[in-house]
Amino acid sequence: MNILGDISTETFLSEYWQKKPLLIRNAFPDFEPPVDPDDIAGLSLDEDVESRILIEDVDKQSWQVRHGPFSEQSFTELPKENWTLLVQAVDHWIPEFADLLEQFSFIPSWRRDDLMVSFAPKGGSVGPHYDLYDVFLVQGMGQRHWQLGPKCDDNTKTLPDLPVKILESMNVEHEWTLNPGDMLYIPPSYAHNGVAVNDCMTFSIGFRAPSEADVLQGFTDHLAAELNNDQRYTDPALKSAEDSPAFIDDDAIERFRQILQQNISQESQLKKWLAQTMTEPKYEELHQPLEEELEWEDIESLFKEATLLTQNETSRWAYFKDEQQVCLFINGQTQAMAESKNAQELAQHLANARHVNIEDITSYLTEPDCQNLLLDLINGNYLYFEG
Ligand code: SIN
Ligand code: CO
Repeated sequence: MNILGDISTETFLSEYWQKKPLLIRNAFPDFEPPVDPDDIAGLSLDEDVESRILIEDVDKQSWQVRHGPFSEQSFTELPKENWTLLVQAVDHWIPEFADLLEQFSFIPSWRRDDLMVSFAPKGGSVGPHYDLYDVFLVQGMGQRHWQLGPKCDDNTKTLPDLPVKILESMNVEHEWTLNPGDMLYIPPSYAHNGVAVNDCMTFSIGFRAPSEADVLQGFTDHLAAELNNDQRYTDPALKSAEDSPAFIDDDAIERFRQILQQNISQESQLKKWLAQTMTEPKYEELHQPLEEELEWEDIESLFKEATLLTQNETSRWAYFKDEQQVCLFINGQTQAMAESKNAQELAQHLANARHVNIEDITSYLTEPDCQNLLLDLINGNYLYFEG
């Protein structure tokens, strides 16, 4: 299924991705949302789930934010209109939403953040704002009226003294009412405001992009952790400083630059850090390995009974290649991998799709290296059997 309508993936990437907004009518024809508003409210009662309610006082241009977990009573106390419930990372809790994310596989999966669901009665919105990440907004139920404005930056004025960032004003450049199954793509920094026309649910597929400061800090912390304290600045070719002992000369600067450059240009460290960082779980505590470790004999028959092997909703996968060797990372951890060609192939199949048909991997099941890989991934609770 092409969720981009008439637009090819290539055209989307070259003309829209990170460049300009795009509305796709009927991206999901006959869309049946996997949840109803009660399910979403139900999730927000759970203490493991990240949720917020935003209430707007339209007359006073003021906003209130409440943080979950909520109680049933929190909902009975809400006004009739002009509020929004936002529940984060619903893909972690509802497998159908994790499946929905697979439709966006034309963007690397390690760029994804999560799928957020919002529910709002008439008038509900989070106000005119901009985000620093790409987002696809799928209309799940009811209608939402979207206004889109220009690109914003740090100098764009926001309303003072509010618990949320709301733009002081927004020049509306596009306006669309979205119906169930319609989808809007908004690149980072574009002003937008979506107001519920009636009881409505919106599913936001959000991506993430680390700040350059985070990249620099993260990578250098990673490098520093692997360096030995004995490795120090040296200057065996030092020239006499007699004339100006306080002067930091160009030679000294060059020697420091060398330390930085030699470390930063370690390609294999960069790959490792990137895979580790981009697979770090959103909520560390949500993922637990299996309580009782299984042996191959315990699971062998399941490959005949089940139809699918599925990535756990709380797991993030990525791999890179070092020479020809596949290095698989899940949830920030490197996975031990045999050098066998088959095990390497299997690892890529498993990482690249949320579901793998067991039928498609039967040829690997007889090889001990592949068995060990599968066993590790199942014991780690990164994969489970379905069907
Ligand atoms: C919403 O779903 O109400 C808002 C999503 C967004 O503007 O990013
Ligand atoms: Co937004």
